Amino acid sequence: MDYNRPDLKKARKRTFDKTLELEFKLDEKYYHIGDNKKYNVITFGCQGNEADSEVMSGILEQMGFTNSCKEDADVLIINTCAIRENAEDRFYGTVGGLKALKMKKKDMIICICGCMAQEEKTITKILEKYPQIDVVFGTHNIHMLPEYIYRAQNTNNRIIEVYSTEGSIVEKLPHTRLSNKKAWVNIMFGCDEFCTYCIVPYTRGKERSRRPQEIIKEVEGLVKDGYLEITLLGQNVNAYGKDFKDIDYTFSNLLLDLSDTGIERIRYTTSHPRDLDIETMKAMQRKNIMPHLHLPVQSGSNAILKRMNRKYTHEEYLEKIKKLKDLNPDISITTDIIVGFPGETEEDFLDTLRLCEEVDYEGAFTFIYSPREGTPAAKYSDQIDPKVSHDRLDRLHEVINSGYLKGNKRFEEKVVKVLVDGTSKNDPNMLCGYSEHNKLVNFKGNKDHIGSIVNVKINEAKTWFLIGEEVE
Ligand code: SAH
Ligand code: SF4
Ligand code: F3S
Repeated sequence: MDYNRPDLKKARKRTFDKTLELEFKLDEKYYHIGDNKKYNVITFGCQGNEADSEVMSGILEQMGFTNSCKEDADVLIINTCAIRENAEDRFYGTVGGLKALKMKKKDMIICICGCMAQEEKTITKILEKYPQIDVVFGTHNIHMLPEYIYRAQNTNNRIIEVYSTEGSIVEKLPHTRLSNKKAWVNIMFGCDEFCTYCIVPYTRGKERSRRPQEIIKEVEGLVKDGYLEITLLGQNVNAYGKDFKDIDYTFSNLLLDLSDTGIERIRYTTSHPRDLDIETMKAMQRKNIMPHLHLPVQSGSNAILKRMNRKYTHEEYLEKIKKLKDLNPDISITTDIIVGFPGETEEDFLDTLRLCEEVDYEGAFTFIYSPREGTPAAKYSDQIDPKVSHDRLDRLHEVINSGYLKGNKRFEEKVVKVLVDGTSKNDPNMLCGYSEHNKLVNFKGNKDHIGSIVNVKINEAKTWFLIGEEVE
């Protein structure tokens, strides 16, 4: 069989000077192949994957498919994540469950894409154990989806098309967005940081930035369509523009230009502490750039940061936080932390706890280190006993949770602006949404205001959310 299989060694290379720029246009021969047919996309992983899933939905709808539940789908796509072992386990759980569905619905086309598809070991396992999967494609060629569906419909062959290239940029992609008020906007793809624990630089290819005019046009279109909030996406948004050879244009320039489009709310993720610059911190003073920064620190120990290849120290990180708070005193800061990285001693871990207290984080995503095949840290000999890692995670949670509560308490008795997402999951009589500081707010209010920004007076702060009532 003629398969294009991934190669992690090749994926590591960064050799091309120039990024290939393409424009998506659906070939006429694929126009109606989805007529009277249904599709469903299951998404694991980060916002980058959620954004990709919206693009795939857009492409499928251009081909005539309509959205349905997974049981009714003629085309089912699973967009995978490879960041930690548990993400991979969840995927295999889902795929296992599809065997029965595929037996009942033999014509169903099951496609796998996303970061796991970029790994050699996944392809080997799929070929050996998962005959129910018809199509595998990677993160670099989601724009080829129409061709793969067409081939799957017209042949009995399994299709495996994964490229370990450095990646191109494809413009003019359609999107079917899940929300009509909040939109993901990719500003760049890939990552060149090569943190030693992380698989992303291998699965997403080289760091490459979309042209500013394309992004600005997209956001102007969103404003026209009534969108109120955008979240700019990239693995390291602060490196935006560094790959441009012909223009001198960085992330802060982009923030200011997008702020000028008049969109109500701009968020962005993720920032790398080393590349976060003063211009970006100053840009955050703009009213429509939200006062929340997610700045993953990963560890507070200089020895561990060095082994992680993070390229900053505990002290340098604190220095950036200080500048950021001097310029934006009201800002809310959150982070990502990994415990149990190979070689992490009790002292190292205490450095992390100390840093958390020094920064006063208002939230964090916390993880136990998970070895990723093909990355340098997976080969380190001093892996940590899982019991020790779990104990550290528990102790870290205590510090982080008190930071969450303290961060929420500062809004008690204050009026905050909330973009109303809908009714609260736990209580249909309450509304919910996010404040400018990215705090989840549950409140009594007018259902007609779903989809708009309202004032909410906060009556009580809980660890994970705020409670309030809508006011004029
Ligand atoms: N590009 C972003 C996010 C990357 S993935 C950044 O650099 O911040 C999101 C988070 O997953 C990372 O911040 C890190 O905390 C965590 N992570 C990545 N690889 C991991 C691994 N092998 N084990 C445990 N956590 C990991
Ligand atoms: Fe992974 Fe580091 Fe890149 Fe983030 S910056 S995606 S943690 S390699
Ligand atoms: Fe997962 Fe890939 Fe995102 S590994 S976190 S889906 S970049």
